[in-house]
Parts: sequence; C-alpha cells; structure tokens
Amino acid sequence: MNFSDINGSAIYSLIVSKLRGAGCVFAEDEALLLISSAQTTTDLAILVDRRTTGFPLEHILGWVEFCGLRIELDQGVFVPRHRTEFLVQQAATLTQPGAVVVDLCCGSGAVGAALVAMLERIELYSVDIDPVAVRCARRNINSAGGQVYEGDLYDPLPTLLHGRVHVIVANAPYVPTEAMKLLPLEARIHEARVALDGGSDGLNVQRRIVAAVSLWLVESGYLLVETSEAQAPMTAKIFAQYGLLPKLTRSDEKDATVVIGTKTALVN
Ligand SMILES: C[S@@+](CC[C@H](N)C(=O)[O-])C[C@H]1O[C@@H](n2cnc3c(N)ncnc32)[C@H](O)[C@@H]1O
Repeated sequence: MNFSDINGSAIYSLIVSKLRGAGCVFAEDEALLLISSAQTTTDLAILVDRRTTGFPLEHILGWVEFCGLRIELDQGVFVPRHRTEFLVQQAATLTQPGAVVVDLCCGSGAVGAALVAMLERIELYSVDIDPVAVRCARRNINSAGGQVYEGDLYDPLPTLLHGRVHVIVANAPYVPTEAMKLLPLEARIHEARVALDGGSDGLNVQRRIVAAVSLWLVESGYLLVETSEAQAPMTAKIFAQYGLLPKLTRSDEKDATVVIGTKTALVN
C-alpha cells in the first residue's frame, strides 16, 4: 500500500494501538512494515491479525534484514538473529578471497549469503537437515553461486571437500532441552524444534560438528561456532577435546559469543 501520508492516519494509529496491545515493543516500525507489504486493506487486516496472534513479524513479511541484506524467510524457518552477525564478522576476518567455506546448520542461509556478499569469490557450501529450511536457503544462496545440501551435518557434502575447507561456520541449535520451555512463545510455536533444541546440555550438535571437523579442514583452517556466553567455556572444552585450539570471542553490543578453533595457534 502507498503509505506516503500514513503516519498521521487513523488506520496507522489503529494498527499501532493493536500491535502495542498485543505486546509488540516496536509497534510503530512494525505497523509501517505491515502496511508496506499489504496490497489491499483486507490483506492488511489479515497481516495485523496474524501479528497480534503471535506470528513472528519476519514470517509474515517473508523476509528479514541481516547484515544489510534482505534474506527471504519461509514460515517455520529459524529467524536469523542480529547477534549472529557477529559470527559473520568473525568469519569474514579469517576468510581469504577464493576460500572454500562451509555453513553447517544454515537455516535460511543467512550466514553464507552475508559472507558471499562481503567477500570476494568464496566457494560456499551450506547444509541443513530441515527440507523447509533448505528450500528457503536455496533461494537466498543459489543466485550468489553457493550450493545448499539437505542432510545431517557433513553427510551430504561432496567428499572431494575432505581436507579442502578453509572456514567452517555453524550456528547450530544450542538451547538445552530443559530450557526450551523458557523460550518466548513465538520461537517455540513458529520455529522448528530441530532448529533450537541442542539436547541435554545444549551442546550435542556442536559436539558432533567439532568431532568430525578435522576430516574437512585444511591444516590452517578455522571452525567458528556461535554459542551462549554461559555455554562458551563448555564449547571451548569440546574444541580442545578434539585437538583444536579454542579462542573465545565476544560482542557485548550484540550479546554474541563465538568460539573459534584452529589446529595451530590463532594469531590475534
Ligand atoms: C539455530 S538455527 C540457525 C540457522 C542459521 N544458521 C541462522 O543463524 O539463521 C539451527 C539450524 O540447524 C539445523 N539443524 C539442526 N540439526 C541439524 C543437523 N543435524 N544437521 C544439519 N542441520 C541441522 C536446523 O534445521 C536449523 O535450521
């Protein structure tokens, strides 16, 4: 809809007050986004209704802003969080032009898409176990020249990548099963459990990623895994158990923690 003079309009005020009543903290911004993505007032009423009944804004819009890109997002697919932009920033500083990069647990493909946009000529391979996420990631990544595979962690990757990967990034599920019930309702209902539940200590998927990493990395390659601040020492311990030298990196601004591992010592 054309909303050139919508800010002061009755319809805008009504939507803002409905969104605010439903607990949307950024009601004004959300109202403008919903208005701009509706074709008709009937459409708009449906979108507002979905939002006030708890659908994530990003699933309603069908896209999310991530690292300055518009990432397409399908219902049920994990909504990329801004904290994960820190994982992208850390990976970007360690990735040379022409590098082979693997994004495990890629979801919508946001991390890989951002790396392709930031870096020159990387060869990107992304993987997810959820077919809905894989379909979504293909739309975000194939046009940028990356490949998306469906399956369990490294299983679907071509074996010719053994010992050839320079950087592996992973924002795998890391919520401990017991803590799943503490997540916001939006996440529990509208994101797949497989995207969130990391098992009893939250680190089951990370453990499997680290255990198999040396088969894939070049000698000087890097593994970067997003984790929580509280879990970071345990994530680092897993890296060390499998022969990687771990380094904890943290952005307080983004409330983000990434463990970086190499087979040889990291230069600061
Ligand atoms: C926390 S989400 C992160 C998605 C994406 N990396 C991002 O940051 O937006 C975790 C993703 O891991 C995927 N996943 C969970 N277990 C997996 C496995 N064993 N192999 C591959 N993907 C897996 C889920 O389907 C989900 O898309």
